[in-house]
Amino acid sequence: MITAKLQATALAHPNIAFIKYWGNRDDQLRLPLTGSLSMALDGLDTVTHVSFDPDLAADRFILNGMEQSGAALNRVASFLDHVRQLAGINLFAQVESSNNYPSSAGIASSAAAFAALALAATKAAGLELGEAGLSRLARLGSGSACRSVPGGFAEWLPGSGDADSYAVQIAPPEHWDLVDLIVVVDRSEKAVGSSAGHKLAATSPLQALRVAGVPERLEQCRTAILMRDFERLAQVVELDSEWMHAVMRTSNPPLYYWTPATEVVIWNVRAWRAQGHAVCATVDAGPNVHVIALAEEAAWAEAQLRALPGVLEVLKAKPGGGARIIN
Ligand code: DP6
Repeated sequence: MITAKLQATALAHPNIAFIKYWGNRDDQLRLPLTGSLSMALDGLDTVTHVSFDPDLAADRFILNGMEQSGAALNRVASFLDHVRQLAGINLFAQVESSNNYPSSAGIASSAAAFAALALAATKAAGLELGEAGLSRLARLGSGSACRSVPGGFAEWLPGSGDADSYAVQIAPPEHWDLVDLIVVVDRSEKAVGSSAGHKLAATSPLQALRVAGVPERLEQCRTAILMRDFERLAQVVELDSEWMHAVMRTSNPPLYYWTPATEVVIWNVRAWRAQGHAVCATVDAGPNVHVIALAEEAAWAEAQLRALPGVLEVLKAKPGGGARIIN
Protein backbone atom coordinates (compact mmCIF):
# COMPACT_ATOMS: atom_id res chain seq x y z
CA MET A 1 0.00 0.00 0.00
CA ILE A 2 1.22 3.46 -0.91
CA THR A 3 1.27 5.88 1.98
CA ALA A 4 3.51 8.72 0.74
CA LYS A 5 1.60 11.18 -1.41
CA LEU A 6 2.88 11.13 -4.95
CA GLN A 7 2.28 14.76 -5.72
CA ALA A 8 4.14 17.92 -6.67
CA THR A 9 3.55 21.41 -8.05
CA ALA A 10 5.69 23.18 -10.64
CA LEU A 11 5.74 26.56 -12.35
CA ALA A 12 6.96 27.36 -15.86
CA HIS A 13 6.85 30.29 -18.27
CA PRO A 14 6.00 30.35 -21.97
CA ASN A 15 8.74 31.50 -24.33
CA ILE A 16 9.00 33.56 -27.49
CA ALA A 17 11.10 32.07 -30.28
CA PHE A 18 13.71 34.40 -31.78
CA ILE A 19 14.71 31.61 -34.19
CA LYS A 20 11.67 29.44 -34.87
CA TYR A 21 10.98 25.73 -34.64
CA TRP A 22 8.86 24.87 -37.66
CA GLY A 23 8.89 21.30 -38.96
CA ASN A 24 10.01 17.96 -37.56
CA ARG A 25 12.16 15.17 -38.88
CA ASP A 26 10.15 12.87 -36.58
CA ASP A 27 6.67 14.08 -35.62
CA GLN A 28 6.11 11.36 -33.03
CA LEU A 29 9.28 12.11 -31.07
CA ARG A 30 9.17 15.82 -31.93
CA LEU A 31 12.69 15.76 -33.31
CA PRO A 32 13.00 19.12 -35.07
CA LEU A 33 14.54 19.79 -38.48
CA THR A 34 16.63 22.61 -37.01
CA GLY A 35 17.71 24.20 -33.78
CA SER A 36 15.73 27.11 -32.36
CA LEU A 37 16.31 29.83 -29.79
CA SER A 38 13.98 31.64 -27.42
CA MET A 39 13.50 33.90 -24.43
CA ALA A 40 11.34 32.76 -21.49
CA LEU A 41 8.60 35.20 -20.47
CA ASP A 42 8.67 36.25 -16.83
CA GLY A 43 5.39 37.03 -15.07
CA LEU A 44 3.39 34.80 -17.41
CA ASP A 45 3.04 31.70 -15.26
CA THR A 46 1.64 28.24 -15.69
CA VAL A 47 1.30 26.44 -12.37
CA THR A 48 0.62 22.72 -12.50
CA HIS A 49 -0.14 20.29 -9.70
CA VAL A 50 0.15 16.56 -10.36
CA SER A 51 -0.99 13.85 -8.02
CA PHE A 52 -0.74 10.13 -8.82
CA ASP A 53 -3.62 8.52 -7.01
CA PRO A 54 -4.47 4.80 -6.58
CA ASP A 55 -8.17 5.72 -6.33
CA LEU A 56 -8.32 7.11 -9.88
CA ALA A 57 -9.64 4.91 -12.72
CA ALA A 58 -8.32 7.27 -15.42
CA ASP A 59 -6.21 10.40 -15.77
CA ARG A 60 -7.96 13.71 -15.13
CA PHE A 61 -6.92 17.10 -16.45
CA ILE A 62 -8.37 20.31 -15.05
CA LEU A 63 -7.31 23.49 -16.85
CA ASN A 64 -8.14 26.88 -15.29
CA GLY A 65 -10.78 25.14 -13.17
CA MET A 66 -12.42 23.36 -16.09
CA GLU A 67 -12.42 19.58 -16.49
CA GLN A 68 -10.93 18.71 -19.89
CA SER A 69 -11.82 15.82 -22.17
CA GLY A 70 -11.07 14.77 -25.74
CA ALA A 71 -7.84 15.87 -27.43
CA ALA A 72 -6.60 18.03 -24.54
CA LEU A 73 -6.98 15.20 -22.02
CA ASN A 74 -5.49 12.64 -24.42
CA ARG A 75 -2.39 14.76 -24.98
CA VAL A 76 -1.81 15.00 -21.22
CA ALA A 77 -2.55 11.29 -20.67
CA SER A 78 -0.09 10.25 -23.42
CA PHE A 79 2.52 12.44 -21.81
CA LEU A 80 1.86 10.87 -18.40
CA ASP A 81 2.42 7.46 -20.04
CA HIS A 82 6.05 8.48 -20.68
CA VAL A 83 6.43 9.46 -17.03
CA ARG A 84 4.79 6.24 -15.78
CA GLN A 85 7.09 4.21 -17.99
CA LEU A 86 10.21 6.04 -16.76
CA ALA A 87 9.17 5.72 -13.11
CA GLY A 88 7.83 2.17 -13.37
CA ILE A 89 4.47 3.09 -11.86
CA ASN A 90 0.98 2.36 -13.15
CA LEU A 91 -1.12 4.90 -11.26
CA PHE A 92 -3.40 7.40 -12.92
CA ALA A 93 -2.97 11.06 -12.12
CA GLN A 94 -4.95 14.19 -11.53
CA VAL A 95 -3.39 17.19 -13.27
CA GLU A 96 -4.59 20.66 -12.28
CA SER A 97 -3.11 23.51 -14.25
CA SER A 98 -3.76 27.22 -14.36
CA ASN A 99 -2.35 30.15 -16.29
CA ASN A 100 -2.21 33.67 -14.88
CA TYR A 101 -2.51 35.09 -18.42
CA PRO A 102 -5.71 34.99 -20.45
CA SER A 103 -5.94 32.10 -22.93
CA SER A 104 -7.58 34.67 -25.20
CA ALA A 105 -4.27 36.56 -25.39
CA GLY A 106 -3.14 34.03 -27.96
CA ILE A 107 0.12 33.22 -26.19
CA ALA A 108 1.06 29.64 -26.98
CA SER A 109 0.58 28.00 -23.60
CA SER A 110 1.76 24.49 -24.59
CA ALA A 111 5.41 25.34 -23.94
CA ALA A 112 4.78 26.40 -20.34
CA ALA A 113 2.19 23.65 -19.93
CA PHE A 114 4.46 20.73 -20.79
CA ALA A 115 7.51 22.21 -19.06
CA ALA A 116 5.52 22.53 -15.82
CA LEU A 117 3.85 19.14 -16.30
CA ALA A 118 7.17 17.38 -17.00
CA LEU A 119 8.68 18.77 -13.80
CA ALA A 120 5.64 18.27 -11.55
CA ALA A 121 4.89 14.77 -12.84
CA THR A 122 8.47 13.48 -12.59
CA LYS A 123 8.88 14.97 -9.12
CA ALA A 124 5.56 13.43 -8.02
CA ALA A 125 6.70 10.08 -9.41
CA GLY A 126 9.98 10.29 -7.50
CA LEU A 127 12.20 10.84 -10.55
CA GLU A 128 15.14 13.26 -10.68
CA LEU A 129 15.93 13.71 -14.36
CA GLY A 130 18.20 16.75 -14.27
CA GLU A 131 17.71 19.71 -16.59
CA ALA A 132 18.65 18.03 -19.89
CA GLY A 133 16.56 14.95 -19.16
CA LEU A 134 13.61 17.07 -18.16
CA SER A 135 13.93 19.25 -21.26
CA ARG A 136 14.06 16.14 -23.42
CA LEU A 137 10.94 14.76 -21.72
CA ALA A 138 9.04 18.07 -22.03
CA ARG A 139 9.89 18.04 -25.76
CA LEU A 140 7.74 14.91 -26.18
CA GLY A 141 4.70 16.90 -24.98
CA SER A 142 5.36 20.03 -27.04
CA GLY A 143 8.55 20.84 -28.91
CA SER A 144 8.87 24.42 -27.70
CA ALA A 145 8.36 23.21 -24.09
CA CYS A 146 11.93 21.90 -24.04
CA ARG A 147 13.12 25.53 -24.14
CA SER A 148 10.92 26.52 -21.18
CA VAL A 149 12.70 24.00 -18.94
CA PRO A 150 16.08 25.82 -18.74
CA GLY A 151 14.40 29.20 -19.33
CA GLY A 152 16.34 32.44 -19.81
CA PHE A 153 17.76 32.62 -23.32
CA ALA A 154 17.56 29.00 -24.38
CA GLU A 155 18.70 27.10 -27.45
CA TRP A 156 17.16 23.78 -28.47
CA LEU A 157 19.92 21.58 -29.85
CA PRO A 158 18.21 19.43 -32.49
CA GLY A 159 20.41 16.43 -31.63
CA SER A 160 20.95 13.20 -33.50
CA GLY A 161 18.02 11.42 -31.86
CA ASP A 162 15.72 11.35 -28.86
CA ALA A 163 18.57 11.21 -26.33
CA ASP A 164 20.35 14.42 -27.32
CA SER A 165 17.50 16.65 -28.51
CA TYR A 166 16.96 19.13 -25.67
CA ALA A 167 17.46 22.78 -24.79
CA VAL A 168 20.23 24.51 -22.88
CA GLN A 169 20.40 27.99 -21.43
CA ILE A 170 22.88 30.14 -23.37
CA ALA A 171 22.41 33.15 -21.08
CA PRO A 172 20.48 33.68 -17.83
CA PRO A 173 17.44 36.02 -17.73
CA GLU A 174 19.40 38.84 -16.09
CA HIS A 175 21.96 38.81 -18.92
CA TRP A 176 20.04 41.33 -21.02
CA ASP A 177 17.29 43.80 -20.11
CA LEU A 178 14.91 43.04 -22.94
CA VAL A 179 11.14 43.26 -22.83
CA ASP A 180 8.58 41.37 -24.88
CA LEU A 181 5.53 43.54 -25.54
CA ILE A 182 2.88 41.07 -26.58
CA VAL A 183 0.54 42.93 -28.88
CA VAL A 184 -2.86 41.26 -28.97
CA VAL A 185 -4.77 42.04 -32.16
CA ASP A 186 -7.06 39.00 -32.26
CA ARG A 187 -8.50 36.94 -29.42
CA SER A 188 -10.08 34.16 -31.42
CA GLU A 189 -8.90 30.56 -31.17
CA LYS A 190 -6.63 29.69 -34.09
CA ALA A 191 -7.99 27.26 -36.66
CA VAL A 192 -4.76 25.31 -37.19
CA GLY A 193 -2.51 24.54 -34.23
CA SER A 194 1.27 24.19 -34.28
CA SER A 195 1.30 20.38 -34.30
CA ALA A 196 -0.69 20.32 -37.56
CA GLY A 197 1.41 23.19 -38.89
CA HIS A 198 4.69 21.33 -38.38
CA LYS A 199 3.34 18.54 -40.59
CA LEU A 200 2.35 20.99 -43.32
CA ALA A 201 5.76 22.67 -43.42
CA ALA A 202 7.21 20.02 -45.73
CA THR A 203 4.59 20.82 -48.38
CA SER A 204 6.10 24.28 -48.93
CA PRO A 205 8.82 24.51 -51.61
CA LEU A 206 10.39 27.23 -49.43
CA GLN A 207 10.89 24.99 -46.40
CA ALA A 208 14.19 23.49 -47.65
CA LEU A 209 15.55 27.00 -48.25
CA ARG A 210 14.38 28.17 -44.83
CA VAL A 211 15.95 25.19 -43.12
CA ALA A 212 19.26 25.66 -44.98
CA GLY A 213 19.55 29.18 -43.55
CA VAL A 214 18.83 28.36 -39.92
CA PRO A 215 22.39 27.50 -38.76
CA GLU A 216 23.62 30.91 -39.92
CA ARG A 217 20.67 32.70 -38.31
CA LEU A 218 21.14 30.76 -35.06
CA GLU A 219 24.78 31.84 -35.02
CA GLN A 220 23.80 35.49 -35.60
CA CYS A 221 21.15 35.33 -32.89
CA ARG A 222 23.41 33.65 -30.34
CA THR A 223 26.14 36.22 -31.00
CA ALA A 224 23.68 39.12 -30.80
CA ILE A 225 22.45 37.90 -27.42
CA LEU A 226 25.90 37.20 -25.99
CA MET A 227 27.18 40.61 -27.17
CA ARG A 228 23.89 42.39 -26.32
CA ASP A 229 23.87 43.74 -29.88
CA PHE A 230 20.28 44.87 -30.41
CA GLU A 231 20.53 45.84 -34.07
CA ARG A 232 22.00 42.45 -34.95
CA LEU A 233 19.26 40.73 -32.92
CA ALA A 234 16.53 42.78 -34.61
CA GLN A 235 17.72 41.89 -38.12
CA VAL A 236 17.89 38.17 -37.54
CA VAL A 237 14.72 37.90 -35.44
CA GLU A 238 12.63 39.67 -38.07
CA LEU A 239 14.20 37.72 -40.92
CA ASP A 240 13.60 34.36 -39.23
CA SER A 241 9.97 35.22 -38.51
CA GLU A 242 9.45 36.20 -42.17
CA TRP A 243 10.95 32.91 -43.32
CA MET A 244 8.59 30.89 -41.15
CA HIS A 245 5.52 32.82 -42.29
CA ALA A 246 6.65 32.51 -45.92
CA VAL A 247 6.72 28.73 -45.44
CA MET A 248 3.31 28.79 -43.77
CA ARG A 249 1.74 30.83 -46.58
CA THR A 250 3.17 28.60 -49.30
CA SER A 251 2.20 25.30 -47.63
CA ASN A 252 -0.54 23.13 -49.08
CA PRO A 253 -3.11 23.97 -47.81
CA PRO A 254 -1.69 27.41 -46.97
CA LEU A 255 -1.57 28.71 -43.40
CA TYR A 256 -2.27 32.40 -43.11
CA TYR A 257 -2.25 33.62 -39.53
CA TRP A 258 -1.89 37.38 -39.93
CA THR A 259 -4.63 39.97 -39.87
CA PRO A 260 -4.34 43.52 -41.25
CA ALA A 261 -3.56 44.68 -37.70
CA THR A 262 -0.58 42.28 -37.59
CA GLU A 263 0.84 44.10 -40.62
CA VAL A 264 0.14 47.52 -39.10
CA VAL A 265 2.12 46.64 -35.98
CA ILE A 266 5.07 45.19 -37.91
CA TRP A 267 5.17 48.11 -40.33
CA ASN A 268 5.25 50.63 -37.48
CA VAL A 269 7.85 48.74 -35.46
CA ARG A 270 10.17 48.81 -38.48
CA ALA A 271 9.57 52.52 -38.97
CA TRP A 272 10.35 53.20 -35.29
CA ARG A 273 13.57 51.25 -35.53
CA ALA A 274 14.56 53.19 -38.61
CA GLN A 275 14.11 56.32 -36.45
CA GLY A 276 16.56 54.89 -33.92
CA HIS A 277 14.35 53.04 -31.44
CA ALA A 278 15.51 49.61 -30.23
CA VAL A 279 12.42 47.57 -31.17
CA CYS A 280 11.80 44.61 -33.46
CA ALA A 281 8.88 42.33 -34.23
CA THR A 282 8.30 38.59 -34.41
CA VAL A 283 5.15 36.51 -34.84
CA ASP A 284 4.52 32.88 -33.81
CA ALA A 285 1.72 30.66 -35.14
CA GLY A 286 -1.01 33.27 -34.75
CA PRO A 287 -1.81 36.90 -35.55
CA ASN A 288 -0.43 38.54 -32.40
CA VAL A 289 2.92 40.33 -32.54
CA HIS A 290 5.75 40.05 -30.05
CA VAL A 291 7.60 43.35 -30.01
CA ILE A 292 11.04 42.85 -28.51
CA ALA A 293 12.49 46.06 -27.09
CA LEU A 294 15.34 47.24 -24.90
CA ALA A 295 13.85 47.79 -21.44
CA GLU A 296 14.60 51.53 -21.61
CA GLU A 297 12.38 51.76 -24.72
CA ALA A 298 9.52 49.64 -23.34
CA ALA A 299 7.31 52.38 -21.86
CA TRP A 300 7.60 54.51 -24.99
CA ALA A 301 6.98 51.54 -27.29
CA GLU A 302 4.01 50.33 -25.26
CA ALA A 303 2.32 53.72 -25.48
CA GLN A 304 2.91 53.85 -29.26
CA LEU A 305 1.59 50.32 -29.70
CA ARG A 306 -1.56 50.98 -27.69
CA ALA A 307 -2.37 53.89 -29.98
CA LEU A 308 -2.27 51.78 -33.15
CA PRO A 309 -5.56 50.78 -34.80
CA GLY A 310 -6.60 47.18 -34.09
CA VAL A 311 -4.50 46.77 -30.94
CA LEU A 312 -6.70 45.21 -28.23
CA GLU A 313 -4.18 44.72 -25.45
CA VAL A 314 -0.44 44.83 -24.74
CA LEU A 315 1.10 42.44 -22.20
CA LYS A 316 4.65 42.92 -20.96
CA ALA A 317 7.25 40.31 -20.03
CA LYS A 318 10.91 40.45 -19.04
CA PRO A 319 13.24 37.48 -19.58
CA GLY A 320 12.12 34.69 -17.25
CA GLY A 321 13.75 31.74 -15.52
CA GLY A 322 13.31 28.02 -15.97
CA ALA A 323 10.73 25.55 -14.70
CA ARG A 324 10.80 25.15 -10.91
CA ILE A 325 9.09 23.28 -8.11
CA ILE A 326 6.90 25.42 -5.86
CA ASN A 327 4.99 24.67 -2.69
C1 DP6 B 1 5.63 28.98 -34.18
O1 DP6 B 1 6.06 23.69 -29.81
O2 DP6 B 1 3.76 24.63 -30.18
O3 DP6 B 1 5.74 28.87 -31.81
O4 DP6 B 1 5.47 20.49 -30.60
O5 DP6 B 1 3.37 20.52 -31.88
O6 DP6 B 1 3.43 21.49 -29.54
P1 DP6 B 1 4.18 21.22 -30.84
O7 DP6 B 1 4.51 22.62 -31.47
P2 DP6 B 1 4.96 23.94 -30.75
O8 DP6 B 1 5.49 24.78 -32.00
C2 DP6 B 1 5.97 26.09 -31.80
C3 DP6 B 1 5.90 26.83 -33.08
C4 DP6 B 1 6.26 28.29 -32.98
C5 DP6 B 1 7.76 28.52 -33.07
C6 DP6 B 1 8.56 28.23 -31.83
O9 DP6 B 1 8.07 28.38 -30.70
O10 DP6 B 1 9.74 27.89 -32.00
